[in-house]
Amino acid sequence: STAPEMIKVEKKDKICLITLNRPKAMNSLCSQLITELSAELKQCDEDPEVRAIVITGSKKFFAAGADIKEMEERTYQENFAQNYLTNWFNVAATRKPTIAAVNGYALGGGCELAMMCDIILAGDKAQFGQPEIKLGTIPGAGGTQRLVKAIGKSRAMELVLTGDFMGAQEAQQRGLVSRVVAEDNLVEEAMNVAKKIAGYSLPMVMMAKECVNQSFETTLATGLLYERRMFHSTFAYFDRREGMSSFLNKKKPEFKDS
Ligand code: CAA
Repeated sequence: STAPEMIKVEKKDKICLITLNRPKAMNSLCSQLITELSAELKQCDEDPEVRAIVITGSKKFFAAGADIKEMEERTYQENFAQNYLTNWFNVAATRKPTIAAVNGYALGGGCELAMMCDIILAGDKAQFGQPEIKLGTIPGAGGTQRLVKAIGKSRAMELVLTGDFMGAQEAQQRGLVSRVVAEDNLVEEAMNVAKKIAGYSLPMVMMAKECVNQSFETTLATGLLYERRMFHSTFAYFDRREGMSSFLNKKKPEFKDS
């Protein structure tokens, strides 16, 4: 495969930092960019040197949505035949932990991309919105679903129907983002969160992520059963015994991912 052109990839300390890098179009998410991002995330899942992933944009824009220029000429028939946007869901299918570090605009597909990540940290000037209604269309990569689950129906409905933007503070108060960080410290802080997660047992991190995500897919009883069975399975791991005996012996655990 050729080197990606629209994302920048840096791997260090077991973290993969992916920077969306299409400045001439406000990081709008054209198909090449999404293809490159999906391929990189798949690679991260396979790469034993990667234990957490941070996705960020530039200071002014995380991503201004799907590429409107590219969408303009599309037809319904093409959309249906190609199952248009289905490849975006590769982002949500990533099994290792993903953190979105959002500075500036996260609009339309940009907001949807952030919501496909496990944790969103926002810079203090971040703006979130689903302005597709202004373009005569509607969100197509999860905006009407994940935003409702994140902030509730009434405000999600208002944002989707008006196309208005929501600032970082409000996004935090409503639970869309975990924390607001000064713009200049955002990526560093996201890397710190990633490093903390990367220090734990990777299979445990992946199981915990899978269980939390399961809560969006199923009933409480089924989700609790799913969690309990996963919890039971952690006892098959060296790391579970290492973690508990290290605690009791007041030493630092040495996890082996096994
Ligand atoms: N696609 C393609 N180009 C885009 C773009 C997008 N989503 N967003 C911005 N651009 C381009 C503009 O066309 C402009 O290009 P030129 O310099 O060639 O004119 C350049 O980026 C800068 O944009 P503005 O001049 O508009 O900058 P601004 O600072 O005045 O406004 C903004 C910034 C509020 C982000 C505004 O650009 C904007 O509203 N963008 C569109 C946001 C949007 O509607 N996103 C949803 C897309 S649909 C979608 O995502 C579907 C889905 O669910 C998957």
